[in-house]
Amino acid sequence: MSEEIRVGVFVCDCGSNIAGFVDVPGVVEYAKTLPDVAFADEGRWSCSVDYLSKLQNAVKEQKLNRVVIASCTPRTHEPLFKNSVREAGLNPYLLEFVSIREQVSWVHMHDREAATLKAKEMVKMGVAKARLLEEGHEIQLPVGQDAMIIGGGIAGMNAALAVAKQGFKAYLVERKPELGGLLKELAVISGEHGEMTAADILKERVSQVEADPNVTVYTDCVIEAVEGYIGNYKVKLKLNGGSDQNVDLNISTIVVATGMEEIAPEGLFLYGEDERVITLLQLEKKLKENAVSGVGDTVFISCVNSKNEQRGCCNIGCHVSVKDAVALKKANPDSKVYICYRDMSLIREEHFAIDAAKQAGVKFLRFPDAKYPEVSKVDGRLMVKVQDILSGREFELPADLLVLATAFKGNETVQDIKGQLKVSASADGFFQERHIKLGPVDFAADGLALAGCAKSPKTFKESCEESLAAAMRVSIPMANGHIEAEGIVADIDLTDCTKCGLCAKKCPYGAIRVNENKEPAVIKALCKGCGLCAADCPSNSIQIVHFSDEQILAAVEAALEDNPEKKILGFICHWCAHGGVDMAGVSRLQYPPVGRMIRVMCSARVSIKMIERAFELGAAGVLVAGCEFPTCHYISGNYECEKRINRAKKKLAKKGYDVDKLWLTWCSAADGPKYANTMRDMAKQLGLS
Ligand code: FES
Repeated sequence: MSEEIRVGVFVCDCGSNIAGFVDVPGVVEYAKTLPDVAFADEGRWSCSVDYLSKLQNAVKEQKLNRVVIASCTPRTHEPLFKNSVREAGLNPYLLEFVSIREQVSWVHMHDREAATLKAKEMVKMGVAKARLLEEGHEIQLPVGQDAMIIGGGIAGMNAALAVAKQGFKAYLVERKPELGGLLKELAVISGEHGEMTAADILKERVSQVEADPNVTVYTDCVIEAVEGYIGNYKVKLKLNGGSDQNVDLNISTIVVATGMEEIAPEGLFLYGEDERVITLLQLEKKLKENAVSGVGDTVFISCVNSKNEQRGCCNIGCHVSVKDAVALKKANPDSKVYICYRDMSLIREEHFAIDAAKQAGVKFLRFPDAKYPEVSKVDGRLMVKVQDILSGREFELPADLLVLATAFKGNETVQDIKGQLKVSASADGFFQERHIKLGPVDFAADGLALAGCAKSPKTFKESCEESLAAAMRVSIPMANGHIEAEGIVADIDLTDCTKCGLCAKKCPYGAIRVNENKEPAVIKALCKGCGLCAADCPSNSIQIVHFSDEQILAAVEAALEDNPEKKILGFICHWCAHGGVDMAGVSRLQYPPVGRMIRVMCSARVSIKMIERAFELGAAGVLVAGCEFPTCHYISGNYECEKRINRAKKKLAKKGYDVDKLWLTWCSAADGPKYANTMRDMAKQLGLS
């Protein structure tokens, strides 16, 4: 026998924040008339300790098995209410949140009647969904205490030492016969506390690594295969340059610190034709070998192969050019040294180097973005013609050495590692982080982190700092002994599954694996619940806990039951778009009360079926709102959403719907005005205001 559904609805006054603009007792009375609502109550401050205990008593005494909270935004208060119902013995996934402060009372302050109607309908949508909610459970996956660090440069060595320092096992894997990476090629590392030779730093760090009993080093070693996921990676290594002896590692986490190399500026400024034209790294080698005395006059040219349409700033060219120019000047005080630059991009603590360079006699010439210096040979000598925008003059600089600060790319192992770990890399072979702000050293999949020049060109200091961050990121699950995922995850029913494999292909987290019979299965601890797979599944075989098709469609139907032609049905992602909606509320931006928003975790969850249903029911318009590019909290969700909306428009057009009524907007969490303007514009164009 199926359980009797007993929904409790708790409507908050929020002092006068809600009650000042909405007839809260009216909303409570209305809630009592909704199907399966067994209890409804008004709370002056619902999030107060007193009221939460009243709510808990109501759950127990009224035998409530679903709860709807109508109050402020779920982005701040949902965890509190979830905990409260959990303490009252109710599974927290049986709670639904309705935001009648940010989405109603604060944005429709001058129309109490319309605000009250909207609040009632939002409660109705919440109840419709809540009736269908099912229990969810956090999922744990065990994680051991051993990490592999790929790349034995400074970032890799540091990461290995940091992992080892916490008592975990670190396997440091380097393809070259020796540790050191790029550091081996450098002369001197400068910083605000002075200079050290790279060789000294390297010697010290290698001896630390070799002395640490928790670090095992494999050099001259090729990674042949990596399979699995956090807590369960199986790695095959081949030693002796890949020709010999397999080593099998069972590890839990991985740090990628593969480094970078220069993009050879072939064909530019006589590079490759005249051996006096070299790159910065080649100059570093000369400096390291003390092979610069008597080099004569030297010109540096910055931003070679960078700051153009293909790529941005190389990040380290200015800093290294200034440092090396000073070294050349010191080695040859009578020689002239010029730096021809476009912009001098230095972080604060590097600026001391400019002063030192000027004092040493290095001359700086700033050329225009669109007019790089010209290099030719005059009587066998190199000649650099450069226009200096600061003095407005053109200079001809004879040179015995020309140094090009060229751009960088990820090293040659990137393609293999990218495939083995199923991660993304840019066109230049730099690995891409999960999220520029929320996961700057994480990959999309849990348990994988990246550090140093594997991500982008870095200074020594930056590489060291980032390697610690990456080591800490992989150490957290190792210290906890597990990872825990929220219960909002995908669930696959194989009954109608056509085994097309689309879900596994599209999952940005590699959380869906296909077995030998082509059957997909979700590794729930890896699933983040974005819903991309469910929305695109052609056989509707995937549901997302707490955001199932049935639950979302119930909310759509509740929203459009009365006067659908006067309403905009919206889907907003929980992150930036909801943040924008909330910000409009906090800023008290007023817009027409015609929207009925449904929260989804990501815009990628919104299926064509949901949009179509809204139009079938007569919605005046449909709005889908997600995070701005590229800041979707599920990596590619907004990109996939955009593609799907384009497909939806074609489908709707064929069915005779006016596709101009389907809107898509990307909104940052701070952009309340954008959301309010979208609602105003949409309402106007649809003739609703
Ligand atoms: Fe906002 Fe994906 S989380 S669009």
